[in-house]
Amino acid sequence: MDILPYDDSMIGELVALFNRAVEPVPFCWPVDAERLAAAVAKVTGEAKSNKPLREKAAFVAVDPSTGSGQVGSGQARIVGFIDTAVGNPRDTDGSYPDAGVTRFLWYEPGRRAAGQALLETAESRFRTLGLSQAEAFPQEYRYECYHMHASYLSERLAHVAALLAFNGYRRTRGEVIFEWADFEPAEPPLVDLPVEIVVERKESAAQRPIIEVAAKLDSKVIGICQTESAAELNSCDAAQDWGVVHWLGVEREYRGHGLGKHLLSRALVELREAGYPHAAITTALDNHRAFVFYSNAGFRFADWTYGWRRSL
Ligand SMILES: CC(C)(COP(=O)(O)OP(=O)(O)OC[C@H]1O[C@@H](n2cnc3c(N)ncnc32)[C@H](O)[C@@H]1OP(=O)(O)O)[C@@H](O)C(=O)NCCC(=O)NCCS
Repeated sequence: MDILPYDDSMIGELVALFNRAVEPVPFCWPVDAERLAAAVAKVTGEAKSNKPLREKAAFVAVDPSTGSGQVGSGQARIVGFIDTAVGNPRDTDGSYPDAGVTRFLWYEPGRRAAGQALLETAESRFRTLGLSQAEAFPQEYRYECYHMHASYLSERLAHVAALLAFNGYRRTRGEVIFEWADFEPAEPPLVDLPVEIVVERKESAAQRPIIEVAAKLDSKVIGICQTESAAELNSCDAAQDWGVVHWLGVEREYRGHGLGKHLLSRALVELREAGYPHAAITTALDNHRAFVFYSNAGFRFADWTYGWRRSL
């Protein structure tokens, strides 16, 4: 097994590997070279408090006995890939210390030696850089073309999760994904607060508009439901069909009055009118209130995703 530094000339083989990797993962659609290259090159994180990635380096595992040529020639077969950097994913205590970040890791099922060699290469590099913590698949540094905004490592990539587990990584955070294919939103229920509901339709990079529903009390926004199209991350036809609720929040003092339910129902009604056949929503796995809320609304569980962390 050869572990080689990744360079841009390998993008053709990497696209083939990435598309094989995400085939079992919901809300991951095949990508082209341009989109994947942009994801690999990206240095900025998603949360405001994050610093950009530094010390980026990616590696490929190549089995010399497969394929018939040099990597980059389009002839060889990459059997594993890891993308690493130094970043600042959120720790369990809410701080953002420097940590070794594995943004993406995949190896062909059955080729554990390739996965192991890639992980050891990454960890040895993290130690050389003086880091004491490593996190795999933190949501802050997710590839834009992988899964949904707040996702970590999908449980559908079970062999990758298992590799991390027997190398001492533990699940520390997670996001649960819900879907509702052919959704039929309920009529928005009455709210026992004197709020004004304001609906905005916005153009996006996707074919269908995105929706924002706000609840205002004395001109102040006290609750909001924001949506996006899955096609903002991947423009393929299948992604165009998914309207995604990416934020729903009600100011603390106004919770429990039916406002959350009203905002979600209204956003779903508007998504339906905008032509989306399917809807999805995500929440942190310990947000039990949202979990019950979304299940009762009609959504069905689609995927668990976890961030995996270890001390080095
Ligand atoms: C989740 C949230 C938007 C709900 O808003 P809300 O206005 O309080 O919700 P509603 O009064 O409309 O209740 C909707 C559902 O939430 C759940 N819920 C509300 N209050 C609850 C409580 N005290 N305990 C348990 N579940 C509760 C219930 O399922 C409820 O439906 P039900 O009354 O039919 O059982 C709100 O709690 C919030 O802003 N939380 C912080 C941000 C957040 O977690 N957002 C979601 C993650 S993306």
